[in-house]
Amino acid sequence: MDKIVINGGTPLEGTVEISGAKNAALPILMGTILTGDRCVIENVPEILDVDLTLEILEKMGAMVRRDHTTVEIDTTDIQPGKSPYELVSRMRGSTYLIGAELGRFKEAKVGMTGGCNFGIRPIDQHVKGFEALGAKVDTRGGFVEARADELVGAEVYFDVVSVGATVNVILASVFAKGTTVLENAAREPHIVDLANFLNACGANITGAGTEVIKIKGVEKLHGSSYAIIPDMIEAGTFMFAAAATGGNVKVNNVIPKHLDSISAKLTEMGVYVEELDDAIIVKRDGEMKNINVKTRPYPGFPTDMQPQMTALLCFANGDSKVTERVWNNRFRYVEELRKTGANIDIAGETAIIHGGAELVGAPMKSVDLRAGAAMVIMGLAINGRTEITDIHTIERGYDNIVKKLRALGADIRKVQIR
Ligand code: EPU
Repeated sequence: MDKIVINGGTPLEGTVEISGAKNAALPILMGTILTGDRCVIENVPEILDVDLTLEILEKMGAMVRRDHTTVEIDTTDIQPGKSPYELVSRMRGSTYLIGAELGRFKEAKVGMTGGCNFGIRPIDQHVKGFEALGAKVDTRGGFVEARADELVGAEVYFDVVSVGATVNVILASVFAKGTTVLENAAREPHIVDLANFLNACGANITGAGTEVIKIKGVEKLHGSSYAIIPDMIEAGTFMFAAAATGGNVKVNNVIPKHLDSISAKLTEMGVYVEELDDAIIVKRDGEMKNINVKTRPYPGFPTDMQPQMTALLCFANGDSKVTERVWNNRFRYVEELRKTGANIDIAGETAIIHGGAELVGAPMKSVDLRAGAAMVIMGLAINGRTEITDIHTIERGYDNIVKKLRALGADIRKVQIR
């Protein structure tokens, strides 16, 4: 087991390269199942969730070759129902196996999935979509089983905006007869990326990025080469780390448009943000103002930046409010942040951050991926030593975070716990 040790207080300076997006990579890698062919996926982040995804696909019969950020994957011989329960149950992204297996084989059997624990994570909207296409779905006994004689295009109205349900029903409907229309669909950039990938393989999907997505069923897909979009949450995390430490960082290889809500909030706090074609510069030398933030599905402020925002606001003047509107229990990390002296109250779905408290480095336990990122930001900005344990949660989604931060001048290292 490893921990992260930070001696904080150094402003981050320099340039950081952003990796491919985790939440695009997972559906796209699972989506290769539909092609039954050889695909080459580039800009794949080197993170634990990708390791796990590739292991699952191999266990199901895929041929996988990986050279750093390039993955060659041949799903010709893959079989449904073969994903090991102990592997899929570790990661939420494995839910996508249901849509992909159902789409290609008209049958799926996948263990109930795990992932970060921040509230109830139902799949009723996924099931609603599969059933609308004509599948029978059984969620009893620790597995999700779905089966259809035939999948037929249908209209699906999602009662909540769900990334997972949108992805899953797209995957399941690629070969469905006729046209499937998804209404109130998620608009995240990773949904667009998945649709672009599937279209490059021969699918007929329009409207991704809007709330109405149309999928015209096709007979067959073929393999293709495809490069994944940059990770907006990794980019946002480095932008916040730059601001928290009073640094000057060029965040490279990003799509600035995806970062609009994040950039806007930094600007409101008085942080200098400059957008270039495929980079963003974040610089701070003055004080930061207090602000209020509410998380929303894209293009709103992302829930996956909520813990990092709470951490950043500990260094702003005055009281700020962060309201969580996507998950019902995503403040578990606050108790850990309080160990630094951070003055944060929780009132229902809102965290009230009383900025300006004198903070000291402290040992903290990373309770989930973005919570861990928030702790790293705290550690970088506080003078003194911070130690973070359970860092596998961070490595699930951040590609070489320690190395990238060291290159920006941070005194941070990974240490083996004996
Ligand atoms: N929901 C339902 N019914 C469903 C599905 C979702 O009520 O059938 C609710 C959830 O309970 C939640 C809301 O809808 O309140 C949004 O959930 P969504 O389905 O969008 O989340 P997800 O697909 O499980 C993905 C990301 C999360 C990210 C959320 C929201 C992946 C693998 N995970 O999860 O990412 O927080 O979308 O943007 O793409 C992360 O990267 O740290 C992470 C947790």
